[in-house]
Amino acid sequence: MPRITVSVDGVTYEEEVEPRLLLVHLLRDRLGKTGTPVGCDTGNCGACTVTLDGRSAKSCSVLAVQADGSEVVTVEGLARDGRWHPMQEAFHAEHALQCGYCTPGMIMAAIDLLRDDPDPSEEAVRRGLEGNLCRCTGYTNIVRAVRRAAAEMSRVPHERAPGAAEGREAAAS
Ligand code: FES
Ligand code: FES
Repeated sequence: MPRITVSVDGVTYEEEVEPRLLLVHLLRDRLGKTGTPVGCDTGNCGACTVTLDGRSAKSCSVLAVQADGSEVVTVEGLARDGRWHPMQEAFHAEHALQCGYCTPGMIMAAIDLLRDDPDPSEEAVRRGLEGNLCRCTGYTNIVRAVRRAAAEMSRVPHERAPGAAEGREAAAS
């Protein structure tokens, strides 16, 4: 079986994987990262979204072998020093979840969205998150949360967004 090396939430893992193993199953079943849920398993819902080398990716649509040599950040890797990431804080403050099933993926996708557009309009948030489905909230509070996080992150420059550089540092330490 192929052997891969992958950094997940700042920790480097070496794993033997079947070529057909999906990244989301590596994360959940082998590494215990159950904070990343499986919704549809077909690339439609976005619940399984993580960042792969700093960009959001639906981990049910990526083979584990494709993540060889990469840095993956899940929702479990966002908090720093006991504090949530501003996007997590904003989702909490705006009550941007009900059942919470979509929330990890929504948060990871929203962080990536702000990387390209640090001050998105409501329309831009809705467009940017169209690959992430929520069956509960109607999206209004999610959009508010993303814009609240954008405002907070522009007000207080922070270093807590996941990214390739940060992942490399964490993996090397
Ligand atoms: S579980 Fe991956 S997109 Fe739905
Ligand atoms: S909060 Fe239930 S699916 Fe989004």
